[in-house]
Amino acid sequence: MKVTPWEVEGVVDYDRLMKEFGIQPFSDIIDRVPNPNKLMRRGVIFGHRDYDRIVDAMIEKKPWAVMSGFMPSGMPHFGHKMTMDEIIWHQKMGGKAFVAIADMEAHAVRGLSWGKTKEIGTLYLKSIVALGLEPENAILYFQSSNRYVKDLAFELSAEVNWSELRAIYGFNPETTLARMFVTSIQASDILHPQLKEFGGPKPVVVPVGADQDPHIRLTRDLASRVSVFSFERIDGGVRVRSRKGREYLEKIKGLFECKVYEEHIDFFGDPEEIEKAIREIEVELGGFGFVPPSSTYHRFITGLTGGKMSSSKPESYISLFDEPEVGAKKVMRALTGGRVSAEEQRRFGGNPEKCTVFELFTYHLIEDDRELEEIRMECKEGKLLCGQCKRRASELVKEFLREFQKRVEEVDLKEYTII
Ligand code: TRP
Ligand code: SF4
Repeated sequence: MKVTPWEVEGVVDYDRLMKEFGIQPFSDIIDRVPNPNKLMRRGVIFGHRDYDRIVDAMIEKKPWAVMSGFMPSGMPHFGHKMTMDEIIWHQKMGGKAFVAIADMEAHAVRGLSWGKTKEIGTLYLKSIVALGLEPENAILYFQSSNRYVKDLAFELSAEVNWSELRAIYGFNPETTLARMFVTSIQASDILHPQLKEFGGPKPVVVPVGADQDPHIRLTRDLASRVSVFSFERIDGGVRVRSRKGREYLEKIKGLFECKVYEEHIDFFGDPEEIEKAIREIEVELGGFGFVPPSSTYHRFITGLTGGKMSSSKPESYISLFDEPEVGAKKVMRALTGGRVSAEEQRRFGGNPEKCTVFELFTYHLIEDDRELEEIRMECKEGKLLCGQCKRRASELVKEFLREFQKRVEEVDLKEYTII
């Protein structure tokens, strides 16, 4: 298996991936999430980093944000819909939503013209709106027009050197400077919601596929490298160090009950409260005070023809802009977990775990958990045959595409804040 931001190959072993990358299982935290959505309940979202922070902010109604990005290199499809649904759910749960159109990435990595990235990027924005993103508490933007993102990216790039980029992304001497720089742009996408212009430091969750984790790791690291104070939980409080010299420690001395040492200060009390107050002081002093971003990871959606869903293989995905009839036909041709003959299927049952149609039901088409479980059981027991099952999925897809495309027609992006 190979999982990098630009390539996903082979059968993905999610347990191994979590171990290798140091991702926490989502099952550890789901019980704390108020009203978990279907992707969470069904294990499609399988991992996270620091999601506790988001749950805390949700429950305590403190400010927090959700942000993710889309590279406008091909048409938006059901894989993108999953991320869009996640952003929308988090916005409903009280987060401020930031949606990036990664036009700089598409230009640098895929060679798309700016005209093309604008055209396709706009389709992504209309899509997320049609799926239910609300205008209040949302910021939509194109990387190339967001000055805050570009300025911060430059600032962050001062902390990254070549050997680090090579180690994380496997860059080589032929890699262009633009391609290297867009990694900084993506880190900046993720961190800029915490700039003072956007309300200052706060928890931010980034819902992504596991292939984006290298970006997340680098960004979390950069968040601390560019911030002045660092925090370490200790018994009864927090140990605070300064990365930019002792004089900064002077500014926070005595804020709470504390013990002052040569190189650090131990504060005692509620760690959240202490960290928040110190980050505020850092911002007043002109620093960033970034909270390391949180993330969630969803499983990759399998291409309808098996293998990876890829925008270069139109048969492998259903675009949100496919004619409803065309989408329905693609479902009818999709790879299932069925047996070679109806007779064998009745006898041995199908395999919903290896079925792209069942995946469509799970990720997108069926809201009710009981209904989904029914399909799974009937398939396994051989009571449900693939033809009938696919017809049901294909009807649902057709209906969805019709409805969705009607809503896209009605979208008025002028109601939205677009940078
Ligand atoms: N690189 C991502 C992709 O290829 C898109 C992206 C750009 C993104 N900026 C982001 C994802 C910020 C998450 C957060 O799909
Ligand atoms: Fe997939 Fe449905 Fe066939 Fe089962 S019956 S293998 S769920 S298409």
